[in-house]
Amino acid sequence: MDTETPQQKYLNETFGLADSELTEIRAELHRHNLDHMSVSGSEARILQFLVRATGVKKIVEVGMLFGYSALALAKVLPDDGQIWSLEKNPVNFAIAQKFFARFDAGKKVCALSGDAADLLSDIEVEGPFDMVFIDADKAGYVKYLDWAERNVRPGGYIVGDNTFLFGAFWGETRDRQIGEKQIAVMKEFNARLADPKKYNSTLIPTVEGLTIAQKL
Ligand SMILES: C[S@@+](CC[C@H](N)C(=O)[O-])C[C@H]1O[C@@H](n2cnc3c(N)ncnc32)[C@H](O)[C@@H]1O
Repeated sequence: MDTETPQQKYLNETFGLADSELTEIRAELHRHNLDHMSVSGSEARILQFLVRATGVKKIVEVGMLFGYSALALAKVLPDDGQIWSLEKNPVNFAIAQKFFARFDAGKKVCALSGDAADLLSDIEVEGPFDMVFIDADKAGYVKYLDWAERNVRPGGYIVGDNTFLFGAFWGETRDRQIGEKQIAVMKEFNARLADPKKYNSTLIPTVEGLTIAQKL
């Protein structure tokens, strides 16, 4: 979430997440100047809507940061639900762990430290999964999609955040360095998930772009 427009402000105020625990994580993100890295309240609410509307129980999240989206998802999981959340930066991991330990819904988060490329193969035995949420290094999205295609059950969901790639497809980069590799990877990610023979899917035009696909 970058600087809010009036429309985003309205959206976050009316369909955001008024939750004191999540607000604490948001404040910590703000203190570290990392607000923009986490999903906004209204985006988290789209993810929660998906989980509740479809009875998702087992989620994998690639990219935990301080645990904002993981905790938002954990809060709407049923009692026997679980989210495996992966983070390679040890500082982010330690901060998220602190929040998971303090908050009740954190019991549903299995937080794993390391590179997703390694951790994903370790957790395969826990699958098949109902949902994989991809929100980490953009150059890795196709690699994570390959894994998700094998490990999400038919009828389950693959969701990717930042799938407009900060406007890089149409020449806007919002002061970020976006390389050719990231552009090619994200184009392939969206093109594969847009295939109606394999997925019931759409790209929700949030500020960052949120691709949602149900595996057929
Ligand atoms: C956009 S942030 C995640 C935001 C989080 N999902 C939220 O909305 O609160 C991306 C995170 O992915 C982590 N990350 C990047 N590459 C990774 C990798 N290869 N394996 C695991 N985590 C990675 C980064 O350290 C960062 O904390």
